[in-house]
Amino acid sequence: MTQPRKAEYDIAPIFTNRWSPRAFTGAAVDDETLYALFEAARWAPSANNAQPWRFIYARKDSASWPAVFGLLNENNQRWAANASVLIVLLSARTHVRPGSSEPSPLVSHSLDAGAAWASLAFQAYYAGLSAHAIGGFDRAKARIVLNVPEGYQVEVAIAVGKRADSSVLPRDLQEREWPTQRRPVNAFVAEGRFAFEDPGERG
Ligand SMILES: Cc1cc2nc3c(=O)[nH]c(=O)nc-3n(C[C@H](O)[C@H](O)[C@H](O)COP(=O)(O)O)c2cc1C
Repeated sequence: MTQPRKAEYDIAPIFTNRWSPRAFTGAAVDDETLYALFEAARWAPSANNAQPWRFIYARKDSASWPAVFGLLNENNQRWAANASVLIVLLSARTHVRPGSSEPSPLVSHSLDAGAAWASLAFQAYYAGLSAHAIGGFDRAKARIVLNVPEGYQVEVAIAVGKRADSSVLPRDLQEREWPTQRRPVNAFVAEGRFAFEDPGERG
């Protein structure tokens, strides 16, 4: 077991209490609760208020589940099989500004979709659920299977469900079923100019 999460500064507890478990019960999530997750995402900020996020969801045991579940890599399928809902987050690469007829490219469509994902994850925690982002899935296949047009980027998959006891997991995943820690604030915040230890990109 790892140490409990401890904030260095005074923040709302939801920021340290939210984490990404892999053990889920598979219990159905009702429509009101599920759509409240998308409602939270709806209010995320975005450049030009373009709201480039798009969510495609599949409930466990529904007709749409096998196609979405089949996108996940094997390691993620081992635990996400017990999620209640799988979501694929897309972002629109262009946006037509009000009063214009020409779509303009969005440079921040992924950033904005990330803000929407975070809102969804915090709402899930608020509703007594957990959301776990999944980058390990076949994005090219998602484009085909989910009928995603070229102008949209396939960003991330998200498993949502009610947390279960870690004993439902394969043993190697049970050992990782704890909230992770974070680097200290001063490792990623600098005043005035770049002053970080990371090697970054050498140029
Ligand atoms: C974009 C993204 C992709 C991720 N991909 C995976 C994944 O493929 N499999 C997995 O088990 N966890 C995945 N995670 C979960 C992260 O490992 C996890 O969020 C991170 O370790 C921080 O832990 P916490 O969410 O529990 O605070 C992903 C998270 C993000 C944001």
